[in-house]
Amino acid sequence: MRRTRPTMSFVEYSDLIQDGDVVIVYMGHNSVMPVKVQHGSQTQTRYGAIRHSSDLIGQRYGSKVTCSKGGWVLVLHPTPELWTVCLPHRTQILYTTDISVITMMLELKPGSVVCESGTGSGSLSHAILRTVAPTGHLHTVEFHEQRAQKVAEEFKEHRVDHLVTVRNQDVCKDGFGVTGVADAVFLDIPSPWDAVGHAKSALKKHGGRLCSFSPCIEQVQRTCEALADHGFQEISTLEVLLRVHDVRTISLPLPDFGPDHSAPSEPRTTEEAPPTATLSPASISIKTTTPPREMPGHTGYLTFATKPRT
Ligand SMILES: C[S@@+](CC[C@H](N)C(=O)[O-])C[C@H]1O[C@@H](n2cnc3c(N)ncnc32)[C@H](O)[C@@H]1O
Repeated sequence: MRRTRPTMSFVEYSDLIQDGDVVIVYMGHNSVMPVKVQHGSQTQTRYGAIRHSSDLIGQRYGSKVTCSKGGWVLVLHPTPELWTVCLPHRTQILYTTDISVITMMLELKPGSVVCESGTGSGSLSHAILRTVAPTGHLHTVEFHEQRAQKVAEEFKEHRVDHLVTVRNQDVCKDGFGVTGVADAVFLDIPSPWDAVGHAKSALKKHGGRLCSFSPCIEQVQRTCEALADHGFQEISTLEVLLRVHDVRTISLPLPDFGPDHSAPSEPRTTEEAPPTATLSPASISIKTTTPPREMPGHTGYLTFATKPRT
């Protein structure tokens, strides 16, 4: 589709906010909210109302917007990473730490064809779409009807629906709805071992990559067995744990070793002040990092495998 003016989409950047866009309102580090821009509408925040017609439409993405109570927020262009931290949850979702490793290990790139199940809340799906655009495609399968419908609406609102097909079916019974087309398959379902055969037939004849996400080690064991039985190779399981260090300035006291006796000293008279120890600073200020006291724990095991060329 050719557009005369660049328009917001989750896979293309646009400069100006337009009617119908989805913008991410950033109010603080842990306070981010998606807003559908509609001429004449208002959105309430803790800093007061944002009036879409005057405060959003025609403004630059990244602008600081003053709300009706005088406080301000930033209006950001949507990205899959921002969507992941503010999307409406219908299920448990994958977060960016796991998603980044999944993207790399599945070797996803522009043009890749990917099969996924279940779609869930679409957190991973948006990241896949951004990576495979503009020529790739995502075939995603979700057996829960309302979830499938809702995520299809979101793909439309986010202007990525031309890159994705949502199928409302059971992946363990009916597969992905495509055969011999996928470069990569991703599974996030309770019984992935039942979908391994369908994953194999969805992958291209000359092979491809598979990843399955499971919280429990017993699920991993069954999946690895099924993968080996179906002739998958390079089977490996890993877990990604992220430690975010706090960068801050700290003040360290300097030790006072007393007067410096090694320096050649002039004979002194009794009236002279004691040597320079009192002149040195009592502390220094340095930038450093400190590890977190608490960090997110286990999300799930990621099992990867390769379908060899047949
Ligand atoms: C944990 S959620 C997936 C979350 C998703 N990865 C995300 O990042 O938002 C699992 C989803 O798989 C769906 N599901 C479970 N078993 C399925 C099956 N056999 N076929 C299709 N969908 C299935 C569930 O309805 C649920 O929506």
